[in-house]
Amino acid sequence: MQTKRIKDLFRNGVIEENILIQGWVRTKRELKDFTFIEVNDGSSLKNLQVILDKTISNYEETLMLLNTGSSLEVSGILVTSPGKNQSLELKANTVKVYGNSNPETYPLQKKRHSFEFLRTIGHLRHRTNTLGAVIRIRNSCTMAIHNFFQEKGFLLINTPIITVNDCEGAGDLFKITNFDLCNIPKDKRGNVEYNQDFFGKPAYLTVSGQLEAEVMAMTFQNVYTFGPTFRAENSNTSRHLAEFWMVEPEMAFCDLEGNQDVAEEFLKYVFKNVLKNCPEDMEFFNKYIDKTVLETAEKIINKKFERITYTNAINLLENSNKQFNYKAEWGIDLQSEHERYLAEEVFKSPVIVTDYPATTKAFYMRLNDDRQTVAAMDILFPKIGEIIGGSQREERLNVLEERLEEQNIITEDLSWYLDLRRYGTVPHSGFGLGFERMVQFMTGIKNIREAIPFPRAPLSAGF
Ligand code: 4AD
Ligand code: MG
Repeated sequence: MQTKRIKDLFRNGVIEENILIQGWVRTKRELKDFTFIEVNDGSSLKNLQVILDKTISNYEETLMLLNTGSSLEVSGILVTSPGKNQSLELKANTVKVYGNSNPETYPLQKKRHSFEFLRTIGHLRHRTNTLGAVIRIRNSCTMAIHNFFQEKGFLLINTPIITVNDCEGAGDLFKITNFDLCNIPKDKRGNVEYNQDFFGKPAYLTVSGQLEAEVMAMTFQNVYTFGPTFRAENSNTSRHLAEFWMVEPEMAFCDLEGNQDVAEEFLKYVFKNVLKNCPEDMEFFNKYIDKTVLETAEKIINKKFERITYTNAINLLENSNKQFNYKAEWGIDLQSEHERYLAEEVFKSPVIVTDYPATTKAFYMRLNDDRQTVAAMDILFPKIGEIIGGSQREERLNVLEERLEEQNIITEDLSWYLDLRRYGTVPHSGFGLGFERMVQFMTGIKNIREAIPFPRAPLSAGF
């Protein structure tokens, strides 16, 4: 008999004679003549209620093994339920227990657990409703992201994880070593030497796939990457991870205006599709995690994003009555408190800030005619702050060389990058979306560590 998924049973509402389901016990309720078991199979938030009648074979033995967390397979007849909240239930004919779960030691009890506690049991936390729903939302976002770019004819490019360049120039790199476990290098005192190079050269985990995406855009025009990126910044905050996933489109023959248009259309598309494809999970977040997530998602979809220049943003900040911890004045990099103030209090919607001071941004951003600012854009969301960072790239060889010199970057290492300006350069633009920040925003969860299956962050427990 083919196994059914619980999500499909509820969706189709079809009453089938004999069906088979497999999953894990959420709760058990014993009555005099029968027992109710709530089974979850990971396909949705919904549990299917299974009724075990005393008359089934090995009733007592089976019941002993069935506790919260036990795995099982049930065949039976699907019927409409007389219960208040249940539309379907399964009358068991046979039950096979794959593995029991000791109720004395199983850490997931029926009560609500804090996210901090759940992080300490990272291998079990996805069995809870909230973390389970996050994983399904993540999956739905991923599909929508690929569909958006594929429908527009962008090519997916897999960019390297091991690189030699510091794309963002912020120096937040994890260094990698070719550590030979059979021949561990030791110093004179016998201490292990960790600073071995990657086949004789220094190498790092990538902070961004952008530079390689630019290479590909110079052949294929429109490309995107979607991969893990790494930052060794002290990211002990609710919106930083040491390992996060980034979506980075790169478009040839595209200026900053076009870049903003694509980014806005992209965000709207992803939100719209997730609302359409995961209504049940989204309603769950709206009910239990943050009562504004559905309304906010609708706003993202329907309202045009505000667009202002950095200079105007600074004016707004300077003229506001709000006390900031970090004083807002022209030349500073916008802090999270400034970003949130603009999105939450001034515009009450997403806002795209453009044309930041050249000194606050990376070398590759195109210098504006005022020679003070660059063609940068950050998309700021309420509650999160920066969710997308992007720019038009400097396509003029001489200006790029000047910028590299100003920032003391050795051009030798980037001669391949300069070649892109030597041979058939074109105006081009792109951006990077912090994938977990999107999932965090969409679900309303407070800490980004709940937006990724296995968070890598300072002080993270488990794994
Ligand atoms: O603004 P960032 O540093 O931009 C870049 O890396 C560009 N090379 C992207 C491009 O133009 N192709 O990072 C982009 C986004 C940020 O807006 C933020 O959402 C996210 O990545 N991000 C992080 N997310 C989680 N944890 C961190 N430590 C992050 N650092 C950046
Ligand atoms: Mg940024």
